Amino acid sequence: MTAARNILVAGSRGMVGSAVMRRLQAVEGLAVQGLARPELDFRDRVHVFSTLASLRPDVLIIAAAKVGGIEANRSQPVRFLSDNLQIELNLIDAAHAAGVQQVLFLGSSCIYPKFAEQPIEERSLLTGALEVTNEAYAIAKIAGIRLCEAYESEFGRDYRSLMPTNLYGPGDNFDPVNSHVIPGMMRRFHEAAKLGADQVSVWGTGTPKREFLHVDDLADAVLFVLNCPRATWLSHTAPRQRFVNVGVGNDLAIAELAALIAKTVGFRGEIVFDPTKPDGTPRKLLDVSRMAAMGWQARTPLADGLAEAYRWYLDHLDTARQ
Ligand SMILES: NC(=O)c1ccc[n+]([C@@H]2O[C@H](COP(=O)([O-])OP(=O)(O)OC[C@H]3O[C@@H](n4cnc5c(N)ncnc54)[C@H](OP(=O)(O)O)[C@@H]3O)[C@@H](O)[C@H]2O)c1
Repeated sequence: MTAARNILVAGSRGMVGSAVMRRLQAVEGLAVQGLARPELDFRDRVHVFSTLASLRPDVLIIAAAKVGGIEANRSQPVRFLSDNLQIELNLIDAAHAAGVQQVLFLGSSCIYPKFAEQPIEERSLLTGALEVTNEAYAIAKIAGIRLCEAYESEFGRDYRSLMPTNLYGPGDNFDPVNSHVIPGMMRRFHEAAKLGADQVSVWGTGTPKREFLHVDDLADAVLFVLNCPRATWLSHTAPRQRFVNVGVGNDLAIAELAALIAKTVGFRGEIVFDPTKPDGTPRKLLDVSRMAAMGWQARTPLADGLAEAYRWYLDHLDTARQ
């Protein structure tokens, strides 16, 4: 990206999009522009093509997607598959048509098989069955990765993809039904502390292990990968594997996470695990050696990141998605 000046962030009002905007705006000499709903719905192919043709950015970052937790994925498979396919197909095709040199597409660790060997290497893609609860989302994300690879192999485009692990941070979704694990727990523990409740129940046994990356670290990884010379990118990835995992490289049990969140929000009651509710995959840790070999690693300790996310939540109680 060294010579690039005009960067367009699609989905600039989401958690990741906002973090990427903040990170890029801190770099001198870059012209950064955001594109988001309601001004533009990326499912509108004609409008997406005309917008990209008129803006003609040097770089397009795709941070827009229909995102949600288990319940949202279960109840709206059409939106998770159809919206995500349309968003990425329209944006990536339109980028090529407008001569955009570089695209950065954001996938997700859900693309990997349910029983992938841990830590999960990029080469496990498409080696086994997916987790059914988010299969629609995962299939759409895999299609996006493959489309970027196809533009690279067929047209020589520099279209790259990143697979982040679970994210959290400012701008997260605190909706009780659609949220991911950290904002969901943070909200419930916060409300319990406020009401002086003596117990909070957490789904499952508390034993599954998960990895969490602060969204500002992901934004930093986005900038790092965009700046990575093409030869370096190609030498650290492989054909049909032109993507890299982004994570912290270590995980913790849900019970440990619950204890950390309770401490962060000042909940002093008992945390009760409900083993009648599903645990999901026992472990999900990304292998981050490709990013490490390229010279990048996450910096934010989880306790610090949680404290910051909680401060953001308190500051946005009226406006946060909930
Ligand atoms: N959050 C995570 O833990 C996580 C983990 C791994 C990967 N990722 C990836 O990171 C990316 C960003 O996720 P996020 O966490 O930032 O989610 P988010 O906060 O929900 O942001 C997604 C953004 O996309 C926008 N969007 C959705 N459908 C759209 C459409 N049809 N047209 C225009 N904009 C649309 C949303 O706008 P509206 O508000 O109007 O719907 C929202 O602003 C996604 O690709 C996701 O797969 C996220």
